[in-house]
Amino acid sequence: MTLPRRAVLAAAGSPVLAGGAGAQPAEGLGARARAQGIAFGTAVDGNRLADPRYAAQVAAEARLLVPEWEGKWSALQPAEGRFEFGPLTTLVEFASRHGQALRGHTLLWHRAMPDWLAARLAEGADRARAVLAAHLDAVLPRMAGAIRDWDVVNEAVANAGGPFTENTPAIGDLRDTPWLRALGPGYVDLAFRLARERDRTLRLTYNEYGVEGDTPFAEEKRRRVLRLLRRLVEARVPVDALGIQAHLMLDEPFRPEPFAAFLQEVRSLGLAILITELDVREAAVVPPDLAARDALVAARVQAVVGTALEVGCRTVLTWGLSDRDSWLAQEPAVMRRDGTIHRGLPLDAEGRRKPMWQALDRAFAARGRG
Ligand code: G3I
Repeated sequence: MTLPRRAVLAAAGSPVLAGGAGAQPAEGLGARARAQGIAFGTAVDGNRLADPRYAAQVAAEARLLVPEWEGKWSALQPAEGRFEFGPLTTLVEFASRHGQALRGHTLLWHRAMPDWLAARLAEGADRARAVLAAHLDAVLPRMAGAIRDWDVVNEAVANAGGPFTENTPAIGDLRDTPWLRALGPGYVDLAFRLARERDRTLRLTYNEYGVEGDTPFAEEKRRRVLRLLRRLVEARVPVDALGIQAHLMLDEPFRPEPFAAFLQEVRSLGLAILITELDVREAAVVPPDLAARDALVAARVQAVVGTALEVGCRTVLTWGLSDRDSWLAQEPAVMRRDGTIHRGLPLDAEGRRKPMWQALDRAFAARGRG
């Protein structure tokens, strides 16, 4: 069922800023971004599409979708050899009805691994390679008509610790995961090569978090990601792009310069840049009024997204649209402790556009004039 346009706009909440600060453009961020040559979209959770408000927001604001969980191993291959394409197909059909594109997330990750997979990987390299190849043999051809861009490997680089990111055991620069233990550091190369062998037309992306901030930990993470990308490019591994998750944290300082320098290095390797999971975790202590909170979020978003657009990024996705539906409002590890929810997405809990929406719109427009 295709939602009629007037319902899409109406049910997505009146295009008025939270706090009633005057009427806003009727068209959504995705349409406005496209006018500037930018693909804007959002992660979508198929479980929520039965909610007409949620569906209308996704239809109104996004021109590009990414599955929040439906493209991961735990959803696609919950048991060895048993593939479940239903949830992902729901998103394919929604995107098709609304003229939206869909990107894939993610072909190889250390989370959302079904129990059987970890057991198989522990049986050694030959079994691990066979299991990975069988997954790609099933998934890539099946989704080829709908998904032209995949996060092939997600979060392979270890964090250097510190208060802003989980400390992760490392083997060299890489996170100690079942994939690394089974196949060695070359598992990243293998995943990209197997994907390219199966479809020469896909854009193949390496996706990572924690590279945006102005801290020693983010700087070290940037160094590690660059070392990995340089090694892949020098080995002629078919990686096309870096996905920057951009789960921003207001407790972490930001300066455009180190982030821009990193992005320039990535571009110099011939790689495209995407912002793939944008949202903002507010500081532990927030200002008492919503306007001040929203202004801090909007300023950070404009600074980070503006920097990426200046260096050639042309794809920006948020990890959800409304604060109410965000993982930041549900996941214990990141939820607020003061009884409020993070205001880190373009729409508030009632679906009204916030200053973050305008900040994105301004960043897109500035790029268009650039
Ligand atoms: O409801 C589904 C069920 O029908 C399905 O069979 C099952 C398959 O695993 O998933 C079920 O629900 C949960 C799903 O979220 C939908 O709410 C899963 O149990 C749960 O693990 C999943 O969590 C997601 C998490 O990644 C792990 O996949 C979060 O929604 C999602 O926001 C989070 O997103 C990650 C990115 O992929 C990578 N970057 C960090 C980001 C935040 O952690």
